[in-house]
Amino acid sequence: MEGITIGHLNRDGIRIHERSHFEGMHAAGRLAAQILDDLAVHVVPGIETAELDRIIHQMVKDAGAVSATVGYKGYKHASCISINHVVCHGIPSDKKLRDGDILNIDVTVVLDGWYGDTSRMYVAGKLSRKAERLIDITHESLMRGIAAVKPGNTFGDIGHAIQSYAESHRCSVVRDFCGHGLGRVFHSAPNVLHYGRPGDGPKLEAGMFFTIEPMINLGRPETKVLADDWTAVTKDKSLSAQFEHSIGVTDDGCEIFTLSPAGRFHPTWA
Ligand code: MF3
Ligand code: CO
Ligand code: CO
Repeated sequence: MEGITIGHLNRDGIRIHERSHFEGMHAAGRLAAQILDDLAVHVVPGIETAELDRIIHQMVKDAGAVSATVGYKGYKHASCISINHVVCHGIPSDKKLRDGDILNIDVTVVLDGWYGDTSRMYVAGKLSRKAERLIDITHESLMRGIAAVKPGNTFGDIGHAIQSYAESHRCSVVRDFCGHGLGRVFHSAPNVLHYGRPGDGPKLEAGMFFTIEPMINLGRPETKVLADDWTAVTKDKSLSAQFEHSIGVTDDGCEIFTLSPAGRFHPTWA
């Protein structure tokens, strides 16, 4: 397919896909979500995050897909696993999960050339009240961002929906990382900010494909990247959570490509 024009770029440099392209995105998104569903039984105290990554990579290959992250800018793993105060891009390692740890697992697959990118929160063992509250607020922030997606609205409307909800619950929105366009490439225009003002930013149009992936902190929004050049943590060591969906804009709203087939997107859902 490479070399064949996929849709066209609009005035803001954002790719507008055709209706026929939604099918490939649904298949890729569904696979990524299925992998996160099937992984849930393995997320228990005592398991190494590298073992979770090996299971993920095997599931990607068994499905006839390719991991988008292995080899991406020198990254070597099929997932990012971000525990507690790690905001994103946690590297799978021999570190073992401990009872009460909360973690985000982020998987991106390429299936028939289409990218499916999703992440969600898990808990190893018992979920604390404080962590559950953060996870609920983060999940609701994502869903409010998605509810703002329809032609005529802007990317600022999405960011505002996320930020106003999170901040009204005394949480903060990470500014240093954002969502992104995707489709037949991993990261493309636009940057999808998780904060903003109503009416700001490019207008949404049917056929845009992008992720929304808010990172929400219990403390302050500032992050720093560790010496491994990947792991981003909260500067104040406060707990951080994230959920990510890949979506496509339709004539009257959007379709979520990465819905959980088992209805397990949130860790407290059976
Ligand atoms: N999946 C991440 C995202 O949501 C990107 C991970 S890139 C990696 O955009 F190299 F860190 F894996
Ligand atoms: Co993403
Ligand atoms: Co991701």
